[in-house]
Amino acid sequence: MNKKEIEKNYLKKIDEIKKYNKAYFEKDDPLVSDKYYDDIKQEILQLEKKHKFLKNKDSPSKKIGYKPSGKFKKINHEIPMLSLSNAFSVINIKDFIKKIRNFLNFKNSEKIIFSAEPKIDGISASLKYKDGIFVLGLSRGDGKIGEDITNNLKTISDIPKTIKKKNFPENLEVRGEVYISKSDFKKINKQFANPRNAAGGSLRQKDYKETSKIPLKFIAYGFGLADPMNFKRQSEFLKLLKSWGFKTNPLNSLVSSLEEIESNHRIIEKKRSEIDYDLDGLVYKIDDLKLQTRLGYVSNYPRWAIAHKFSAEKGFSKIKNIEIQVGRTGALTPVAKIDPITIGGVVVSNATLHNEDEINRKDIRINDTVCIQRAGDVIPQVLSVDLLKRDKNSKKFIFPQKCPSCGSKTIKEFNINTKKKDAVTRCPDTNFDCKDILKEKLKHFVSKDALNIEGLGKKLIDNFWNKKLIKYPHDIFSLDLSILNTLDGWGEKSIDNLKNSIIKSKQISLDRFIFSLGIRHIGEENAKVLAKHFLVAKQFFELAKNLNDAKQKYLEELKAIDGIGNSQIESLKKFFSNNQNLKVVSKLIDVLNIKDYKFISKKTPISGKLIMFTGGFVDKSRSELKSLAESLGAKIVSNVSKKTDFLITGSHKPTTRKINEAKNLNIKIINEDDWNKIIN
Ligand code: IVH
Repeated sequence: MNKKEIEKNYLKKIDEIKKYNKAYFEKDDPLVSDKYYDDIKQEILQLEKKHKFLKNKDSPSKKIGYKPSGKFKKINHEIPMLSLSNAFSVINIKDFIKKIRNFLNFKNSEKIIFSAEPKIDGISASLKYKDGIFVLGLSRGDGKIGEDITNNLKTISDIPKTIKKKNFPENLEVRGEVYISKSDFKKINKQFANPRNAAGGSLRQKDYKETSKIPLKFIAYGFGLADPMNFKRQSEFLKLLKSWGFKTNPLNSLVSSLEEIESNHRIIEKKRSEIDYDLDGLVYKIDDLKLQTRLGYVSNYPRWAIAHKFSAEKGFSKIKNIEIQVGRTGALTPVAKIDPITIGGVVVSNATLHNEDEINRKDIRINDTVCIQRAGDVIPQVLSVDLLKRDKNSKKFIFPQKCPSCGSKTIKEFNINTKKKDAVTRCPDTNFDCKDILKEKLKHFVSKDALNIEGLGKKLIDNFWNKKLIKYPHDIFSLDLSILNTLDGWGEKSIDNLKNSIIKSKQISLDRFIFSLGIRHIGEENAKVLAKHFLVAKQFFELAKNLNDAKQKYLEELKAIDGIGNSQIESLKKFFSNNQNLKVVSKLIDVLNIKDYKFISKKTPISGKLIMFTGGFVDKSRSELKSLAESLGAKIVSNVSKKTDFLITGSHKPTTRKINEAKNLNIKIINEDDWNKIIN
């Protein structure tokens, strides 16, 4: 090959990798497998090494940021890393405080103090210190299991490697945010679309020397395991962190009234653009750690903290077309295809229009110039039309009367709660055979919170679907993956990896399994509640039979489960009335190894007991008593039955009917004082 040909070959490869980078870093939708990507990267680097004249600004040797590795050791967090629920307005905050007051049974005169902390939009990490030495650093992962990124974290100078302070706990997990400043982000030649991706991506490089190329920073804000726990308040802990050499946020403060919360939020939001890192809101945490413990958690969120978001970033663009997407639950969502624009570092080319009513209310037309809003990880949305820019080409969008996927006549359901017709147009999918819905269900089935099949992304599902290789979830387990050999970017190694992740996904907990079925109204939370109730997959499947027999008593029992209401029951009924669905569930039960739902293994006098509460309590609120009993391994029921172990009666208006029922069934009745003795 002569010089020209060598260069041509080189540029071809650069163009190729540019295409893959764009798909991965900007669209978060990789086109090729990791192996293929790595190979091409190596080929470019080799070529540059051999022929010194080869140079390009888009070469991986010049740009910071390779695809992160998925090959880190997985390690359990000793204490889970939870997320926060979000508040978007002061009303949400008011609600949050009210719930806390009710839970704690607080009088109006009792004051609650919050630690108010800026919420940096970075990547959280947990640093484990043993006798003052940094021994293990984990990413958040799914909150329960993180990845061992110790070496990558060690490259960050804000992270102390040894701490020689007398009052530093023997065992301490420091939690905080890894981020990159806006100014540093501007300076580097990188692939990443925004500072957050840069922080996350570079933290997870296989070669930690790659991580060290990005000027990462770390701010500490919390703790996991702490032994001894020589602090009583969050604010006290933050001060200690600073004295131990960690960076803490100088904008942290204490607030105690709604007025203070509002004004603090306003002040910091105003400063937002001058602050040299991306901030997406404030976090409020109850300052008193004892109260935090009492409040505890609801599934993935603490009751004692909330994130108060700032308003989202906006941009203007033109709508080129409006398309309808059919979602997993049959909702027809209109999506605006817009001229791509960058909002907050992310390229946006689609924005949701929500539903027909929204389009009409905002009078949005094709060819209109519109304001687009993008906030954190939510889907960008069209906010409003710039009417001054409307021209004669603007075209009204006619909302389809038929499902674009299966042709069924669409419906708008009547909502019993609001007593109004729903705004959402749906495909009724009476026979559960609408193609788009089936496909979306498959995507849901393999997704992170369901089966979590790594390497089987949306693109690949589309691909398999188009080749008619899969239709129902269980088809995935009988796929012949050798077909991938014919696809661009797949080799023996990547096929093997996918095979392994499919095998791995077969080990699944009952709650995840229930969630993975994608039944409408059965989200993660409700799936957990059902798993807790049924304990074993087979028993959950019995539900199908019993629902179809419409046994009244059975329905009552279901309704009595906290969190399960009419919409859940109706949806379960509809799902299980279909033969194909029954087949899917039964096949999945055969092919998967569904682990029984486990109560907390801790042995306590009440573990495994079925407990019911009635009436109002003096010392603790009923919610707190319930959550306490649950954390001690008991199961809370809302109806007295033969199986109930105890009925706990509060002194304020306990239901006489329930007491009588309990007496008839010889169930032990316990009052508040005696109950407190038992659980203490
Ligand atoms: S506390 C249970 N404090 O926000 C408490 N989080 O949505 C969980 N974050 O994963 C976190 N600044 O990445 C907390 N001062 C702060 C924070 C903060 C940023 C991030 C963190 C976390 C996410 C929660």
